[in-house]
Amino acid sequence: MSMQAYRGSILHYLEDPYTHPETSRAFIEDGLLVINDGHIHAVGPFSALIASLPKEATRIDYSGKIIMPGFIDLHTHYPQTEIVAAYGRQLLDWLNNYTFPTEKKFSDASYAREVSEFFIQELLRNGTTTAMVFSTVHPDSTDAFFETANALDLRMIAGKVMMDRNAPDYLTDTAASSYEDSAELIEQWHGKGRLSYAVTPRFAPTSSPEQLNFAGRLLQEYSGVYLQSHLAENKQELEWVAALFPNARDYLDAYEQAGLLGPQSIYAHGIHLSDSACQRLAETGTVLAHCPTSNLFLGSGLFEMSRLTDQGVRFALGTDIGGGTSFSLFSTMAEAYKIQQLQDLSLHPDRAFYLATLGGAKALSLDHCIGNFLPGKEADFIVLDPSTTPLMRFRMEHCQDITEKLFVFAILGDDRLISATYVLGNLVYRQEQ
Ligand code: GUN
Ligand code: ZN
Repeated sequence: MSMQAYRGSILHYLEDPYTHPETSRAFIEDGLLVINDGHIHAVGPFSALIASLPKEATRIDYSGKIIMPGFIDLHTHYPQTEIVAAYGRQLLDWLNNYTFPTEKKFSDASYAREVSEFFIQELLRNGTTTAMVFSTVHPDSTDAFFETANALDLRMIAGKVMMDRNAPDYLTDTAASSYEDSAELIEQWHGKGRLSYAVTPRFAPTSSPEQLNFAGRLLQEYSGVYLQSHLAENKQELEWVAALFPNARDYLDAYEQAGLLGPQSIYAHGIHLSDSACQRLAETGTVLAHCPTSNLFLGSGLFEMSRLTDQGVRFALGTDIGGGTSFSLFSTMAEAYKIQQLQDLSLHPDRAFYLATLGGAKALSLDHCIGNFLPGKEADFIVLDPSTTPLMRFRMEHCQDITEKLFVFAILGDDRLISATYVLGNLVYRQEQ
């Protein structure tokens, strides 16, 4: 038996604060988190648990710091790490000028491995322990990511991009080859360790209807795999989809006709949607990944959180590196807050932190194993240290309660707030002092 007990302030969510504002947050000022064999054994006040802690348990004191579940990033692209902050273009030009030439480099498996390692270190430095990740069209680039994630026992979801038209020849597959390559990767990786596979048609404009149908076939043939793609991000993109899919009612219908909606399907963005599209998303349980830093950076538009909530659409948060500009879920919360401010909604810090933890886990249907500290769950957690920057330290002195502190973390926080990151109870990152 390997048991560890961590003392500190403990924060996690038990329900959605939007629907359960009084009972969603559990905060224990002086708490103890007890881990056994990589899973949560117990959580509660230090004073209540310490007497029953076995003598042989290792004790770690994080008093003055906050222990919370690892962040969950619903949408990101590891090969785009090197083009974060590329000047001057909106989506379609940005893809042609920056993204496609960069993704070409990932035909080199050793380069893919090098960037996978950097990207995963960056996730852990920012407190992200689970992400849904695009690789490139090259199967080897997906292998590289999974190998790197598996070596650290991370709970990760990824997939090979399917793209058979409207992209440079050096980046295209065919409908049939994308099906075969994806099937092979699913057999190799889906369910291995803590990894899952996501069938990954890039977005409707770069897939023929035949390729989308093959993606649908993969979902049918391999139960439990995810689907990830992009939806209704940019106005020019919408016009292009309308021209490319004349028989589709709207953008969403191009995916719906291929059987690509459902509770395991995660679409980034969902900014420009009709009421009917929202209704079909809600009815099918399809999930949106809200990627606020990307939506602002690429000038894509404003995610309508109130409307989507009212319509019953499931969503959580994504960084969308490299259209997005930060690996940090704190920065992502900050930009989400500002986007809602422009639409008369003041996103509450509890809701923002919920979306980055248990809400993300629910969106990925992984809340039975991650997202909070209920006993039995996997012990992926982070330690926040508000004393690491002068401003944060000073600002903390002027907060009345934990709600105010959480809001300051959301708005001012970044990787400097993450003191340590643990995966299955093992330390995988510690900030240098
Ligand atoms: N739509 C299709 N591909 C991409 C991508 O790589 N990033 C973003 N933000 N949108 C996309
Ligand atoms: Zn994206």
